[in-house]
Amino acid sequence: MSKFNVTLVFEDGRSESILADENDTIYMACLRNKIRILTDCLEGACATCKGHCVEGEYDMDDVSDEALSAEEAAQREVLTCQMHVRSDCVIEFPYEAKLAIKAEPRSWNCKVTAVEKISSTVQRLDIAPEVSNAEPPVFLPGQYVHLAVPGTDETRSYSFANPPHETGTCSFFIKVLEQGAMSDYVRDRAQPGDEIQMTGPFGHFYLRNPERPILMVAGGTGIAPMLSMFDHMIETGMISQPVHLLVGANDSAELFHLDVLEDYKSKGIPLTTEIAVVEGNEGWVGETGHVTALLRDELIAGGVDVYLCGPPPMIEAAESWLSDKGVDDKLVHAEKFLPS
Ligand SMILES: Cc1cc2nc3c(=O)[nH]c(=O)nc-3n(C[C@H](O)[C@H](O)[C@H](O)COP(=O)(O)OP(=O)(O)OC[C@H]3O[C@@H](n4cnc5c(N)ncnc54)[C@H](O)[C@@H]3O)c2cc1C
Ligand code: FES
Repeated sequence: MSKFNVTLVFEDGRSESILADENDTIYMACLRNKIRILTDCLEGACATCKGHCVEGEYDMDDVSDEALSAEEAAQREVLTCQMHVRSDCVIEFPYEAKLAIKAEPRSWNCKVTAVEKISSTVQRLDIAPEVSNAEPPVFLPGQYVHLAVPGTDETRSYSFANPPHETGTCSFFIKVLEQGAMSDYVRDRAQPGDEIQMTGPFGHFYLRNPERPILMVAGGTGIAPMLSMFDHMIETGMISQPVHLLVGANDSAELFHLDVLEDYKSKGIPLTTEIAVVEGNEGWVGETGHVTALLRDELIAGGVDVYLCGPPPMIEAAESWLSDKGVDDKLVHAEKFLPS
């Protein structure tokens, strides 16, 4: 009997991964994992258990037309009390996780393994989760976690820069502000061996199965989830679609990992990149200005999946341009690095 990974993503961004065997309905598989998704009839007649299967293959037992119309079924709406998965799947539910899950989100005690300055304003923080008494973290490429700031009661959100298949060490790119709880920690106090708690994963910003060319816009540390996605694409062979990545920074000294981007090209991702810095320093020969000024019609011609990540003004400018151009907002995925 085959078992598949099923990731449940709730409206508040909390996600949980469970194993489901093909004979179980998703409802049963959730119950076995102490997750009580909303249900009523359990017969495919009321639609209380409805979700949206974003990824993966599945079959459905009998459902009534009133509960799930043909049009909804074609859009991959699913009645999870009648659903059997035939591959790994991602299912989104239109309500908060606390309605289905009593337990708090998972947490891991981690040890800092490295802190490295990788640009004028960015530090890479590597942490190793202790998994002797806990399952390793399971997440979708693009998602984020909460990190507790050591020595304080504060937590901050950071996107994984590592892919889901490499969780022995988790890497985060942290923009170091002049003053800030996490910024002060990584700049002044962080040392290998420090204990740090990680909770999650969270977020709707994750890589969808690439069915059309991909356009990405990353501002500053917003490149972190893109790297997680690229490594995942290579690991899973999702390299058939071209990817165009626009990278933005305030100045060229803030740029980092451009060599890593080059490596992805040689590893098989059909990746092209363009870079813009707001302030061109002496010697800068590339584009000057906001990264969103690089957006132009030819990049969206024929339809694209769009991934935007970084500072809120960058995302808002990109979303507004895409909306003016009539890009379907279902194809636009965004993560705003909002301050806490
Ligand atoms: C879903 C999500 C994912 C995120 N992922 C990342 C990530 O991968 N990498 C990353 O670097 N950040 C990321 N962030 C932002 C991060 O969570 C923190 O907000 C940021 O690192 C500042 O934390 P801090 O403790 O250093 O400063 P804080 O103590 O939170 O703030 C100190 C002061 O600085 C202001 N401030 C906060 N952010 C900025 C800013 N960008 N520019 C100017 N002033 C600011 C605050 O309003 C406050 O006045 C993410 C945010 C979200 C919501
Ligand atoms: S619980 Fe009624 S359709 Fe699934």
